[in-house]
Amino acid sequence: MSTSESTPPISTAIDSLRGRLRAIDQEHLLSFWEELPPHDRRTLVDQVEALDLEAIPDLVTTYVRGQPHAPTPDTLEPAPFYPQDPSSKSRPWDASAARAAGESLIRAGKVACFTVAGGQGSRLGYDGPKGCYPAGAVSRKPLFQIFAEGILASQREYETTIPWYIMTSPLNDAQTRSFFDSQHYFGLDRSQVVFFPQGVMPSFDAGSGRILLASKSTLATNPDGHGGSFRALVESGATADMRARGVEHVSYFQVDNPLVRAVNPLFLGLHIGAPDSSGEMSSKMVAKRDPHEPVGLFCLADGTLDMIEYSDLPKDLAEARNPDGSLRFAAGNPAIHAMSVAFIERIHGDPRFALPFHRAVKKVSHVDPDTGDAVDPSEPNAVKLERFVFDAMGRAGSSIILETDRIEEFGPIKNAEGNDSPQTSAQLQTERAARWLATVGVDIPRRPDGTPDCLLEISAATALEPADLAGAKLPTSIEPGSSHLI
Ligand code: UTP
Repeated sequence: MSTSESTPPISTAIDSLRGRLRAIDQEHLLSFWEELPPHDRRTLVDQVEALDLEAIPDLVTTYVRGQPHAPTPDTLEPAPFYPQDPSSKSRPWDASAARAAGESLIRAGKVACFTVAGGQGSRLGYDGPKGCYPAGAVSRKPLFQIFAEGILASQREYETTIPWYIMTSPLNDAQTRSFFDSQHYFGLDRSQVVFFPQGVMPSFDAGSGRILLASKSTLATNPDGHGGSFRALVESGATADMRARGVEHVSYFQVDNPLVRAVNPLFLGLHIGAPDSSGEMSSKMVAKRDPHEPVGLFCLADGTLDMIEYSDLPKDLAEARNPDGSLRFAAGNPAIHAMSVAFIERIHGDPRFALPFHRAVKKVSHVDPDTGDAVDPSEPNAVKLERFVFDAMGRAGSSIILETDRIEEFGPIKNAEGNDSPQTSAQLQTERAARWLATVGVDIPRRPDGTPDCLLEISAATALEPADLAGAKLPTSIEPGSSHLI
């Protein structure tokens, strides 16, 4: 059936659309209209009409022609956090109460996992959705499988079902779903896994502010950032689905961190139970490795919890130290959060809480709207707009942060080589496994620099934490240079 038979004719509406586009200086999107076949015309009109056209001029003025900078706060203080050691004098807290509260929340079926997996993963350069990347240090299991095993193990431990919401993008949604299908959902029940694509934003020509055409009949677009998850969760029906299942809180993590504890009772318990937490949005932090590590930092900007880019932190503050020698601004962001369903709905539903956009200038191939020629730029030519999830923190009534150990929970795979690469992630997976094995008396061979002289990986099916290793089948000895999947 042709599109023109199933939908109203677009010829009559095109004049009005052309007028609306002319009014916002984007009429070039219809440059090739006359030569497009009916199907392509429909594609183009659908894409243009999905945009919030009236909002485009402001976006262009603010973010494409302008380069907004958040106003410099009068005061910038380190954000307070719950230290990893609950008996720390700086801020003692009751870890067993937090853990118990988290466990009963999970056991009651009120927790879901939420993974943002809509990114383009361009730095890694992997051909496919990043969640399919073989990340296991020894097993080469894909990231999605590593998380699925964590969820399955938590389900067994707490005798419950933990639904898993996965945000894809229009670019990787079909591939992600078929990967899960081909892998039989890694042993999960397919009804507990919910996929939904995030929204996209048009990519703008950095010079003119005109929306770029990817082809004569399609706009150049990019996923609208992990902060697009609030809108996508609500508009896809995912939050309604959560409510129908009795889910009240989500455990949020990124697709590229194989060390994350998908369901963490201690963190969830602190999120709902800490006296200074509104139970809306909580975060984990890892101590910065050195003063100039390129990582976002939790801080209080004029008293409000905020994330500051490492590049925006003045050098003297980046290097400032506490009396005990630790860095004053130490709280790096591993992108692990807990959020209530009600908070997600509020951020999306109330325009007063709308998240800002952030601009990035990137290379985007496109079609020249004047000549129809394909353009493959050698320099960044386009402004992409994204929203970031952490901008929601300051909109929560009171948001808390829990310190965690990098080796325990943060081994991201971002780059093909160097920092945050498959190699560094494998080293961290090994280091964590070595540490856990040492607690049950397994000797770990180490190099002169102290790093393990072996490759180790502990599956969540074996242990979610070191105590689970008691009674597990473990290697009696580990030879230098050997690999072990436990
Ligand atoms: P990154 O900021 O690392 O971006 O995403 P990326 O797109 O994956 O990778 P690069 O920058 O192109 O190399 C952090 C997390 O946020 C998700 C990613 O999938 C990853 O889990 N994300 C990012 C989305 O879900 N949607 C987006 O639009 C952007």
